[in-house]
Amino acid sequence: MAGSTLEIKDLHVEIEGNEILKGVNLTIKGGEFHAVMGPNGTGKSTLASAIMGHPKYEVTKGSIHLDGEDVLEMEVDERAKAGLFLAMQYPSEISGVTNSDFLRSSINAKREEGNEIPLMQFIKTMDENLDFLDIDKDMAQRYLNDGFSGGEKKRNEILQLMMLEPAIAILDEIDSGLDIDALKVVSEGINKMRSENFGCLIITHYQRLLNYITPDHVHVMMQGRVVKSGGPELAQRLEAEGYEWIKEELGIEDETVGQ
Ligand SMILES: Nc1ncnc2c1ncn2[C@@H]1O[C@H](COP(=O)(O)OP(=O)(O)OP(=O)(O)O)[C@@H](O)[C@H]1O
Ligand SMILES: [Mg+2]
Repeated sequence: MAGSTLEIKDLHVEIEGNEILKGVNLTIKGGEFHAVMGPNGTGKSTLASAIMGHPKYEVTKGSIHLDGEDVLEMEVDERAKAGLFLAMQYPSEISGVTNSDFLRSSINAKREEGNEIPLMQFIKTMDENLDFLDIDKDMAQRYLNDGFSGGEKKRNEILQLMMLEPAIAILDEIDSGLDIDALKVVSEGINKMRSENFGCLIITHYQRLLNYITPDHVHVMMQGRVVKSGGPELAQRLEAEGYEWIKEELGIEDETVGQ
């Protein structure tokens, strides 16, 4: 089976009456890694939340389709079941649910009833991935993200990614707060996912991450839109020169989402 395609067209999103996204166009196909960069407050996380269906974010115009299916018509759980995944910039802490139970329920929610993952297979895959990501085995039995350090939360998001094997993943600042070793481990995890059946949108501020994960496409967001796209060399230029040249080129004074 060829990979999935996520197609975002002219997406406009409002939060409590304020328009944040003002016409985002982006297509991500299986096998492709896209990086989204851009200054603070330009709508990157809003895009991620809108794709996953956060209730606060109201789509007022435009469309999101996954393999031709209307994502905006789907509930959040249906989006996950259809193959979408979001690693959040600030993952929530859920007390009372262990990491392991959460993962097993999430995997089973994606499978047909009566075709749940066998417990032994789950444990084996979990152990392999914990090893790969160098996560302490005890973390599996702790409550989800409860008291996890910043870096542990980010590793744990990649554990979820590797366990759930989504068709399209959105990773929002997966590199923030990681030490150098963790950055390498997390990058290796993401790289391990690379296949025709996996597409990825990586939101990041730093070329540092892109030294480990080579994106096929790099996009810059300003004012709630993708204002520039290119290859990996675009990220390198941003690292060296910042965003001022893009603002000059496009005649943008304030890059943030004006109210
Ligand atoms: N739930 C919300 N309620 C009110 N305003 C919001 C909400 N979410 C986002 N915004 C506003 O929308 C704008 C864009 O925010 P967003 O989080 O998408 O930016 P970002 O590009 O991810 O920034 P950063 O690089 O700092 O993470 C900001 O002005 C922010 O205050
Ligand atoms: Mg953000």
